[in-house]
Amino acid sequence: KPKVSNTMTLMFQDATEFYHHVLLTTNAGRRGLRYARKRKMSDEILEHFQIGYAPKQDNLLLTFLRGRNYKDDDLFRSGLFVESKDGRLFDRFRDRLMFPLGNESGYVIGFSGRRISNDKTVAKYINSPETKLFNKSKVLFNFSEAKKAAKQEGHLVLYEGYMDVISAYKAGVKSGIASMGTSLTDQQIYMLKRVTKNIIINYDGDEPGVHAEERATKMFQKAGGFNIGVVVLPDGLDPDEYVKKYGAEKYQDEVKGAFTATDFFLKRLAKKYNLNNDREKIVYLDEAVKVIAKLTNPVEQDLYIDKIAKAQGVSKASLKANLIKQQRRER
Ligand code: CTP
Ligand code: MN
Ligand code: MN
Ligand code: MN
Ligand code: MN
Repeated sequence: KPKVSNTMTLMFQDATEFYHHVLLTTNAGRRGLRYARKRKMSDEILEHFQIGYAPKQDNLLLTFLRGRNYKDDDLFRSGLFVESKDGRLFDRFRDRLMFPLGNESGYVIGFSGRRISNDKTVAKYINSPETKLFNKSKVLFNFSEAKKAAKQEGHLVLYEGYMDVISAYKAGVKSGIASMGTSLTDQQIYMLKRVTKNIIINYDGDEPGVHAEERATKMFQKAGGFNIGVVVLPDGLDPDEYVKKYGAEKYQDEVKGAFTATDFFLKRLAKKYNLNNDREKIVYLDEAVKVIAKLTNPVEQDLYIDKIAKAQGVSKASLKANLIKQQRRER
């Protein structure tokens, strides 16, 4: 890494090391370590991702950073602390497993902390607030490492959550990144585009996840120039749960078997109709043709027309006729 002498960068580096040290070597960190083990995170994983623990006790980070002579102004600007009405600072993250969030070069610029208690009244994850350094719409967990792995694997894989990236890594898919939930932004797409055109979307297999995959796929298509693969995991599982349940090899097969964007849309569409009912089937076939009409490559169009004709027991010629009608309408 190049040498930097930016106060904020150094502070985040110190904070990362503090949380990490607390997790691995202190009594205060044992709660965190127990949780990490429950999530099947090995020492190697904790090390690689520099996972940490923000202790329950009041203001240990504040005390630590003040001991390193950081000024209150800088401490406040970091977003690592909240300010009380009378202007005093308090640790923002308490009793949470800490995921450092890096910028494109890998320097930590913020954190996300996972609740480890069972108290469902507090948020499962809390994130650093927006700061000069930390622009949520540009943050991608594991981006700097994934960029390197993308050279080997030939693609980047997009996840919802940090634990998904980590479990995929364990399963041998090291090019994973996460967009802090399902709200992908155009800035993030732009960042990805500079790394690879091969993007695999693997959000959670639950309905919100698959719905968000639809949205993300459309965003990548709109941006243009991407080869998009979409993985839909069974039974509403997220990638972390899938790897735990079925193992690394099965998971790698899921990634290799990712749907094309068109296949994904057609499968989603088919689910909305009862294809044993002729009236519904006709509507489905109309809608499917509309999806295919959007494709610009005639060979690709032919491929999907063929697939649907075979699957639904209708002639290719009739579907093609509909396709031509549809394309006239759109022009
Ligand atoms: N998220 C968030 N705030 C929340 C819930 C979720 O910022 N209150 C973000 C986190 O980045 C999280 C991602 O959305 O990783 C996906 O959410 P979800 O699927 O609910 O969580 P998981 O990643 O599955 O977390 P875990 O396995 O720890 O339960
Ligand atoms: Mn270490
Ligand atoms: Mn989810
Ligand atoms: Mn999830
Ligand atoms: Mn999960």
